[in-house]
Amino acid sequence: MSWHMNAVFYELYVRAFADGNADGHGDFIGLRQKLDYLQWLGIDCIWLLPIFPSPLKDDGYDVASYLGIHPDYGLLEDFMMTVDEIHRRDMRILVELIPNHTSDQHPWFVEARRSRQSPMRDFYVWSDSPEKYKDARIIFIDTEQSNWAYDAVSGQYYWHRFFSSQPDLNYDNPAVQRAMQDVMQFWLELGVDGFRVDAVPYLFERDGTNCENLPETHDYLKRLRAFMDEHYPGTIMLSEANQWPKDTLPYFGDGDEVHMNFHFPLMPRLYMALARQDRRDVVDVLAQTPQLPPNCQWATFLRNHDELTLEMVTEDDRQFMWETYAPEPAQRINLGIRRRLAPLMNNDRRKIALMHSMLLTLPGAPVLYYGDEIGMGDDVSLPDRNGVRTPMQWDDGLNAGFSTAPTGKLYAPMIADPVFGYQKVNVAAQQADPNSLLHTVRHLIHSRKQQAALVQGALEWLDDLPPQALCFWRKGDGQHFLALHNLSDTPLTIELPAPSATLTDALNPEAKVTQSLTLPPYGYRWLSQQA
Ligand code: GLC
Repeated sequence: MSWHMNAVFYELYVRAFADGNADGHGDFIGLRQKLDYLQWLGIDCIWLLPIFPSPLKDDGYDVASYLGIHPDYGLLEDFMMTVDEIHRRDMRILVELIPNHTSDQHPWFVEARRSRQSPMRDFYVWSDSPEKYKDARIIFIDTEQSNWAYDAVSGQYYWHRFFSSQPDLNYDNPAVQRAMQDVMQFWLELGVDGFRVDAVPYLFERDGTNCENLPETHDYLKRLRAFMDEHYPGTIMLSEANQWPKDTLPYFGDGDEVHMNFHFPLMPRLYMALARQDRRDVVDVLAQTPQLPPNCQWATFLRNHDELTLEMVTEDDRQFMWETYAPEPAQRINLGIRRRLAPLMNNDRRKIALMHSMLLTLPGAPVLYYGDEIGMGDDVSLPDRNGVRTPMQWDDGLNAGFSTAPTGKLYAPMIADPVFGYQKVNVAAQQADPNSLLHTVRHLIHSRKQQAALVQGALEWLDDLPPQALCFWRKGDGQHFLALHNLSDTPLTIELPAPSATLTDALNPEAKVTQSLTLPPYGYRWLSQQA
């Protein structure tokens, strides 16, 4: 079985994690110093948000060069040393592959827009009219009015699915297809274990379609996959297709396309279930989640570097989510919510732990977002999604131990409010306190690894329980695992569906398992049984 099936992933910004050279920006020197922490936490694979040279208008998703490192983060040698240090700790590393678009500062685009005769012109998608492909939706609805932007230099419009400073590459051009495979090869040669592949649904455009999930896109991804399998076996692609499960399934092909894709529709439903004290939304979405081909896995998550997207819920549910979790307009962006996990949970430790318990026991490989393991806060006064990308809070000293630069030089202000400020919420304090959220999350991660059934075990709901009980078996690999969750604010008593004598508490082996169990408000239990 390939490593990705059962890995615990951790998503981080090099810029936000630790500053090793005191310039106010996180870098690879700093990250290397924190690898022991990630190993201690139980992380198997680190996913680095974009590290490439970039004007940072979209925090690095606007790539100005695919074959280098942003100077703030260090040199290529720094990256290579970091890869070695990660591997030395038996961890793995994913970097971003951003195939859909570049920055308008990328030399390809600078050259392409120079004139209509430019040899690079066909690297991008041009039109005389902004009416073309009008069935394609706009993704960044708060900032963009059209998917076309007029280029005054060459007198035509160029196509962009995201910010207008991010022109889309033209995948009908075989040279673009080759160039992106070369990019992939460059990073694989440096030893990365794979890629989080950004925004995959949008690679090709075709008139009369919504320009998403086109067959041509799947063909191209399959070719990238074949290339990886042939030359770099064991490396993976984790794609970002924010789609309904039935539209996501084709990205796995017959096990010959991507290895993993995020389960976008599940994520908001975990929040809905908790707020409604009713498991139904989660049960429904998993019932509509198809079986994956062998050696394929869902990546599940609670939060990430973007807004908590509500693209995959109904209009009614979106209003419900906004009213419940983002009552203030400043907390909303596009079709989502720009807040972190702990504030979304009103900083209620029980709820934060319960969400982690669901994440770590439901099907899929979990992806954690840096800082959520200590319950970091956010800052909605910062523009765009920057409020959930503030510096990691290591201790209660100068700049939270993130940087020794003068505070005014930090790339972003620290969270310093009375509830979530680094003086209160930081790694050092929580490492020293065995009852902290950090220790709870770490314990859940390490305990998960003991449970063979959690890798691919079939999901079986306990149906005849009240709605606030989110309880299920995972059965497989010689083991039965029983997860019990109480979504409500009152105690919940459950009659176990198997003789209590056959069950052991998987989080606390000493704890007594009684036939009738009472979960406290927002409580959870993990029980395991030999099959
Ligand atoms: C992906 C990234 C997001 C970025 C967008 C455009 O959705 O997750 O952060 O803004 O692609 O590159």
